[in-house]
Amino acid sequence: MNDQHLRLGVNIDHVATVRNARGGETPDPVRAALLAEEAGADGITAHLREDRRHISDRDIDALMERLSVPLNFEMAATEEMQAIALRHTPHAVCIVPEKREERTTEGGLEVAREENLLAHFIAPLRDAGCRVSIFIAADVAQIEAAHRIGAEVIELHTGAYCDAHAEGRYDERDAELTRLGEMSTFAHELGLEVHAGHGLTYDTVAPVAAFPEVRELNIGHFLIGEAIFRGLSPAIAEMRRLMDDARAQ
Ligand code: PXP
Repeated sequence: MNDQHLRLGVNIDHVATVRNARGGETPDPVRAALLAEEAGADGITAHLREDRRHISDRDIDALMERLSVPLNFEMAATEEMQAIALRHTPHAVCIVPEKREERTTEGGLEVAREENLLAHFIAPLRDAGCRVSIFIAADVAQIEAAHRIGAEVIELHTGAYCDAHAEGRYDERDAELTRLGEMSTFAHELGLEVHAGHGLTYDTVAPVAAFPEVRELNIGHFLIGEAIFRGLSPAIAEMRRLMDDARAQ
């Protein structure tokens, strides 16, 4: 695979959200993950939340058993999640902030304020062989702190950029995009691998995919929604095409 390949991680959380709305077995997020794999996903992302509102412990067991592509296990920095991650040792662990009342992961992790705690928290995960990624805002202080605590990867939160686009605040959108680009370069120069995600759609993906330092995009909600209209595989294929086109330019 060439060095410039931009990986697509498909987040399947919201297949589980729909399943859990009725409490049964369907739609099965693991089936969605296997289909995403066939459709060209380079990895699968799943967030096991403290309240288990979408992905369940059984889903993680099944994903670990059945996936051929790497699992990016998203989790809060809690002892419970650390124990689960150490039991499974997924390819990657992405540490995200989590608030019970939020609808989605609203902001990046406060690494700069919690540096010692997080350094101790991620050390055993790294020792167990997981690639540790930290989900943060595109901000110098957070990136430097993520580097200092020993993370190998950062994932830049693209939510503010996508929200500004959706709400027609184009000056702010462009400023957010500039910041994402500059911070990708900054993080890459520190030796961090750069990922990005949150809220990305067909309309917003291209400029982020075009940043040469970004190696992976993690996309969920939009793709699962789009799957209702065109099916999961075509929805993913179109995202892949947009990413590849942006990268080629
Ligand atoms: N990356 C991280 C770290 C996330 O927490 C999420 C949402 O769970 C995503 C990417 C995907 O965001 P979306 O579902 O909005 O595409």
